[in-house]
Amino acid sequence: MLTTESIMEALREVKDPELNKSLVSLNMIRNIQIQGNDVSLDVILTIRGCPLKIKIQEDVENAIRQLGAERVTVTFGAMTDEERAALSASLRAEQHASREKAPTQSGKAPSTPGIPQTNYIAIASGKGGVGKSTVTVNLAVALARAGKKVGIIDADIYGFSVPDMMGIEQRPTVIDEVILPVERYGVKVISMGFFVEDNAPVVWRGPILGKMLRNFLHEVHWGELDYLLLDLPPGTGDIALDVHQMIPQSKEIIVTTPHATAAFVAARAGAMALSTTKHEILGVVENMSWYTDRNGDKEYVFGRGGGEKLAESLNVELLCQIPLGAPGNVLEDPEYSPSVYSTNHPTGKLYDELARKVTQAITT
Ligand SMILES: Nc1ncnc2c1ncn2[C@@H]1O[C@H](COP(=O)(O)OP(=O)(O)O)[C@@H](O)[C@H]1O
Ligand SMILES: [Mg+2]
Repeated sequence: MLTTESIMEALREVKDPELNKSLVSLNMIRNIQIQGNDVSLDVILTIRGCPLKIKIQEDVENAIRQLGAERVTVTFGAMTDEERAALSASLRAEQHASREKAPTQSGKAPSTPGIPQTNYIAIASGKGGVGKSTVTVNLAVALARAGKKVGIIDADIYGFSVPDMMGIEQRPTVIDEVILPVERYGVKVISMGFFVEDNAPVVWRGPILGKMLRNFLHEVHWGELDYLLLDLPPGTGDIALDVHQMIPQSKEIIVTTPHATAAFVAARAGAMALSTTKHEILGVVENMSWYTDRNGDKEYVFGRGGGEKLAESLNVELLCQIPLGAPGNVLEDPEYSPSVYSTNHPTGKLYDELARKVTQAITT
């Protein structure tokens, strides 16, 4: 039977994809009109031009059709400033409450008040260009494939590349002062790149940078997360140190190439993690380990043994070796991204294996 009540009941199950809350509890459903088998209603969005409008419309229409409606007409509106402020305040209050309570999930390291309660994994390297961001992105996607709730903070403030690597063209929704991360491949992402116009160079210095990172932790509405990965800037500079100190409970993964020099420089990043910040190192990932030629033979383009040597010197495990090779995505594919390997790709499988090891290391 089509009644206002049955429609509201059905829409209770439909969630705002960004806030992961029911449209009904968000008070986004208004003005339901029923005429025979035709239903019309207003859906009040948090902001005009909400990027996920189409998804919301589909979900609303499907839910009402299942009740037997033939035609469903959705008219979109936007919250008033007062409504938005009230929502923002309630999101902040909820965020605040969730960050004060003791961690419940197994494996979660002791918490720092005010920041999301989750397992932090910082991805570090000695120098740039070794594949730190590639590893961050693909580990995150592999963890999400395994059913985990995952976020990435692209903390490489000057060299941000995560949005581009994941093929993200959207900007985050901002409700008053609450920032909603952008979701791609099931991973929530926040990056300096979202707040910079047209790839302009970032010229902010010291204090502002620290403040941005703090905001990424404090002001972003992450919701519930199992893992929050941080793509750190390369090396042992101030920003890297800042991040370490903001999140004392973070664990680390160190990325290197097999080249002896890269491994030597990476050892310094590892040493900083251990001595200055007392972060536990989960292990080493060696990237660009070899290239498989036409005949199936491995060519060790960047030398051999760097990862193993680094792992040895840090007294941790060499978690995996990732060969050279592009993901082979096609530009026409709506799921295209320059750097994400699918689970069908041999390298994607290596990342699935890495995700399994990381989960095991953290939950035991
Ligand atoms: N295993 C790999 N095979 C081929 N290209 C790779 C691989 N890993 C990284 N790359 C490429 O190398 C470049 C540097 O990688 P990136 O992840 O940006 O490094 P970093 O974050 O350490 O600076 C990028 O263009 C990236 O696409
Ligand atoms: Mg990078």
